Amino acid sequence: MEALEVFFEIHSGLDREAPGGDRYTRQAFEMLPEMDRPRILDIGCGPGASTMELARLSNGHVTGLDLHQPFLDQLSKRIDEAGLSDRVEAVNGSMFDLDFPAESLDVLWAEGSIYIIGFEKGLREWRSLLRPGGCLVASEATWFRPEPPKEIRDFWKAGYPGIGTIPENLERAAACGYRQIGLFTLPEDAWWVGYYNHVEKRVQALRKKYADEPEALAVLDEEIMEIELYRKYSQWYGYVFFVLQKT
Ligand SMILES: C[S@@+](CC[C@H](N)C(=O)[O-])C[C@H]1O[C@@H](n2cnc3c(N)ncnc32)[C@H](O)[C@@H]1O
Repeated sequence: MEALEVFFEIHSGLDREAPGGDRYTRQAFEMLPEMDRPRILDIGCGPGASTMELARLSNGHVTGLDLHQPFLDQLSKRIDEAGLSDRVEAVNGSMFDLDFPAESLDVLWAEGSIYIIGFEKGLREWRSLLRPGGCLVASEATWFRPEPPKEIRDFWKAGYPGIGTIPENLERAAACGYRQIGLFTLPEDAWWVGYYNHVEKRVQALRKKYADEPEALAVLDEEIMEIELYRKYSQWYGYVFFVLQKT
């Protein structure tokens, strides 16, 4: 079994693919200026939990965009079940090459996904898609304090060296042409209830299935290592919602 297949076996059919929850999507949305029928793009939407919540919160048109078709299929099913296909769509595309006209969007949304392109690069490259005064909301892994212990610093250095502190990310946002209109930290509960508890359960089940396959077990171990590091160092980092407006 290929490592990537095992990875997607762990991650298929989950409600969401990053820490979060509908109430936090709502909390961030309520920080935005009022908008009538906004055009919203949910970038790296995964199975589309936030896409669906944004559709319920707004009366606008919401596009969920991702590269992984099985996640988009999951979102399409949710859209059909909710009877929202007239104003919500699932689109296969890359955040590195967003094919939308300049200034055509009111809101760009990215929960746990902007790190893929990098916080600063995403802010800079996506900005032209926003109409003047449009908003960008991103939840981003962020240090809560400087000088983290070596073990967790090394983990992030290998996985996402661009991780910054809140002041650093706000400075980056200002330099890229955004002002802060809101900010909050996801509570630890949102990591466990929203995401890690489900991943842990999956991993436990798959350990039996792959008991004799060391390569597959290594993928499972890696997932558990990430979770254990969060358990140990959750005082040092977490997800911060940055609610920004184009200046
Ligand atoms: C950590 S998950 C977060 C998913 C979702 N926002 C959520 O909170 O459930 C990151 C997502 O980004 C997607 N992704 C990875 N590379 C991408 C790219 N180049 N363009 C668009 N999406 C991408 C992955 O398929 C995955 O669904």
